[in-house]
Amino acid sequence: MTIDEPGAMAAAGDSGGWSGRVGGRGDEEKEEDDDDDRVDSAETSLLNKLIRTSLVESSHHVEILQQDPSSPLFSVKTFEELPLKKELLQGIYIMGFNRPSKIQETALPIMLAYPPQNLIAQSQSGTGKTAAFVLAMLSRVNAAEKYPQCLCLAPTYELALQIGCVIETIGRFCADIKVTYAIRGNRVLQGTALEEQIVIGTPGTMLDWCFKRRVVDVKKINMFVLDEADIMIDSQGLSYQSIRIQRALPKGCQMLLFSATFKESVRAFAVQIISNPIVIKLREEELTLSNIRQYFFVCRSREEKYRALCNIYGSVTIGQAMIFCQTRRSADWLSVEMSQDGHQVAILTAELTVAQRADVIQRFRDGKEKVLIATNVCARGIDVQQVTIVVNFSLPTDQNSEPDFETYLHRIGRTGRFGKKGIAFSMVESQNVGLVQMIEEHFQTKIKQLDPDDMDELEKLEN
Ligand SMILES: Nc1ncnc2c1ncn2[C@@H]1O[C@H](COP(=O)(O)OP(=O)(O)OP(=O)(O)O)[C@@H](O)[C@H]1O
Ligand SMILES: [Mg+2]
Repeated sequence: MTIDEPGAMAAAGDSGGWSGRVGGRGDEEKEEDDDDDRVDSAETSLLNKLIRTSLVESSHHVEILQQDPSSPLFSVKTFEELPLKKELLQGIYIMGFNRPSKIQETALPIMLAYPPQNLIAQSQSGTGKTAAFVLAMLSRVNAAEKYPQCLCLAPTYELALQIGCVIETIGRFCADIKVTYAIRGNRVLQGTALEEQIVIGTPGTMLDWCFKRRVVDVKKINMFVLDEADIMIDSQGLSYQSIRIQRALPKGCQMLLFSATFKESVRAFAVQIISNPIVIKLREEELTLSNIRQYFFVCRSREEKYRALCNIYGSVTIGQAMIFCQTRRSADWLSVEMSQDGHQVAILTAELTVAQRADVIQRFRDGKEKVLIATNVCARGIDVQQVTIVVNFSLPTDQNSEPDFETYLHRIGRTGRFGKKGIAFSMVESQNVGLVQMIEEHFQTKIKQLDPDDMDELEKLEN
């Protein structure tokens, strides 16, 4: 991690209170469970061995990582040494956090410094970026003033809800700070004056609330947070909306951009639209996490991919799995195939209604379905700690059939959250093996080939 143009670090922290609803995360307490439908016991025991390390992990493992200076979870300071008010420390204890991660420790003093500084911050998936910017928002708002002061944008409905949950949990002891959700389905009457100090949402609805319904006075916003900032400013629809909001904000509004990925062109663009930002960046080789092991299978056809998947799936029900497909069509196909074979799977694609999406993700968080088949709509930000396996049913590619490096990294980052162990499998058609090499080169990492039918090889996966 390197920091460009580091600014003065000073303590800040307005007084404030909170009385928001408490968001139940519901994803910490799930334990492994056994599925008695499995038939092939040899296969089962091998793959069980393979992932056992993830299951017996304790906070002890995280503590060890937090003492290793090369780990993104490393910190020299405790939360108590950071400039945080005591109500927020209480919220952090509710979250069960012991020490800050590197990004939390580094970014918080910058975000809380006075005068406010803009920040473009990059840190690996699952390293606690959310709590970092949530603590900044909760520190900055003035609870005595009853109008929106912080806007936070995320690319998807699910992610906005998830961030809202973190705000509500960490902010539980700050009486009088409230949060509301600018997301599809949450209606507000035109001209209503919102009293909540923090508004979290997706760009389309937020745009509507700011300019059409005018329930948010953009001129009074003093902190603007973009999560998954690289796609928020670079992908077609999202960037038009996010940047329109960003341009309308007052001059002194503090802008905070967070993501695990910023390709160089996007970072350059971010630096252009945000004035004088401090930039925290990672080198490409720092991006992949050693706690996420990466493998690939070469398959000749969709059917062969499916068979390989079944080999994994039959044995990996202990944790949870996310399977990514490139298109809704292939996600639908896969879900039908798996359901016909008696597997209980959930599917999340953008065509579902918001109510269906909320239901699917909640059931998955609660462990009711162990497998979630998804398109890229779920590739970013979603934090379900018990996900031990990610499968790329196809590798993500762009319009030019080049690897979509960022999406690959975000997808595999759905596992291995905050130091937990995870495994990422990619199914690759023989003509696409070159994509794997390109990903390996790009991230200077190793993706090892496996034969899905070779049990000896699978056994070697255990480390
Ligand atoms: N200091 C901490 N100690 C222990 N756990 C933490 C700490 N900070 C965050 N976590 C946990 O780590 C997990 C990942 O955090 P978070 O979702 O913020 O990651 P992220 O950096 O936003 O990742 P992504 O790039 O995938 O969005 C969450 O479950 C969160 O509760
Ligand atoms: Mg995140």
